Amino acid sequence: MKILVTGAAGFIGFHLIQQLVARGDTVVGIDNLNDYYAVSLKEDRLALLKALPGVEFRQIDLADREAMEALFTDHQFDRVCHLGAQAGVRYSIENPRAYIDSNVVGFMNVLEGCRQTKVPHLSYASSSSVYGANKVQPFSEEHNVDHPVSLYAATKKSNELMAHTYSSLYDLPTTGLRFFTVYGPWGRPDMAYFKFVKAILNGDSIDVYNHGNMSRDFTYIDDIVEGVIRVTDRIATVNESWTGERPDPSSSYAPYRVYNIGNNAPVSLLEFIETIEQCLGMEAKKNFMPMQDGDVPSTYADVSKLMADVDFKPQTSLKQGIERFVSWYREYYEV
Ligand SMILES: NC(=O)c1ccc[n+]([C@@H]2O[C@H](COP(=O)([O-])OP(=O)(O)OC[C@H]3O[C@@H](n4cnc5c(N)ncnc54)[C@H](O)[C@@H]3O)[C@@H](O)[C@H]2O)c1
Repeated sequence: MKILVTGAAGFIGFHLIQQLVARGDTVVGIDNLNDYYAVSLKEDRLALLKALPGVEFRQIDLADREAMEALFTDHQFDRVCHLGAQAGVRYSIENPRAYIDSNVVGFMNVLEGCRQTKVPHLSYASSSSVYGANKVQPFSEEHNVDHPVSLYAATKKSNELMAHTYSSLYDLPTTGLRFFTVYGPWGRPDMAYFKFVKAILNGDSIDVYNHGNMSRDFTYIDDIVEGVIRVTDRIATVNESWTGERPDPSSSYAPYRVYNIGNNAPVSLLEFIETIEQCLGMEAKKNFMPMQDGDVPSTYADVSKLMADVDFKPQTSLKQGIERFVSWYREYYEV
């Protein structure tokens, strides 16, 4: 298949493209290589991708309507995996407009491209952050998600709403994946696990928010990629038993689906730090801090729908995943 992957130079896009190429797909990757975090890391990922057979890369901004139209005119895609976005909850507090440009205008351009060229299936990254102020856990796709606590979360929820409209009006099959804290080699320097490893190796202290009373459903990158590929292959269909009398938010009378993809095993922040300490053989100096604006104290994914529909549930233990991250980190940064 010929697959468009947006956010190609990003953490998840980089890993996804490698797996798609390994199974024989051809990939067109796009990214604007913005400097939200080290551009050199994005360039290094990209250099590895460009060396693979069947990968074409274009530097395009998702919000650039003309460039996006030209992209879809030049290629007929069998699938679109949309991962490009302005990520990060905390950054959205200071830089809200970046999220509207990349995540709302950008998503609109992806939807239009898919509609105009009749792409058979669009899968796209949503986020566990859509659960916002919800307290009932594990988080289920059947729960109402109308109380986001960051603009980042609001843009991801908007993507789900926009996708539903296109599935309904234009019969475009769409599947949204709510990722739960993804980590692993070649990961994102703005995320806590990355900052922790860096700080501990430097002998610096680490900031532990909400005095450590946090937990996350950490999901290893290879599990995320497996889930994305399975979901992308399986074109979203209508739910025949869907009814407006009791509207299930995760499916529709239109070809629209939303899935959680998380480890289904939340880990407390302090246990997480302990695992990093064990893998590094070093102890962290902890700086306990209050809760940050826009953050949520815990996430825990109900993944039964994903399991039922694509027969997959993340497998990698935190210990294995952190070990692999630490060994990549030491090699990449030569520490
Ligand atoms: N990593 C996680 O824990 C996590 C959790 C929930 C959701 N997500 C979502 O998954 C997707 C991939 O995340 P990631 O962790 O790989 O992040 P990432 O920042 O590493 O990758 C995103 C890529 O998109 C590119 N990009 C951003 N704005 C763009 C624009 N306007 N035009 C073109 N390219 C643009 C960036 O340069 C980056 O390379 C994102 O949509 C993110 O919101 C990630």
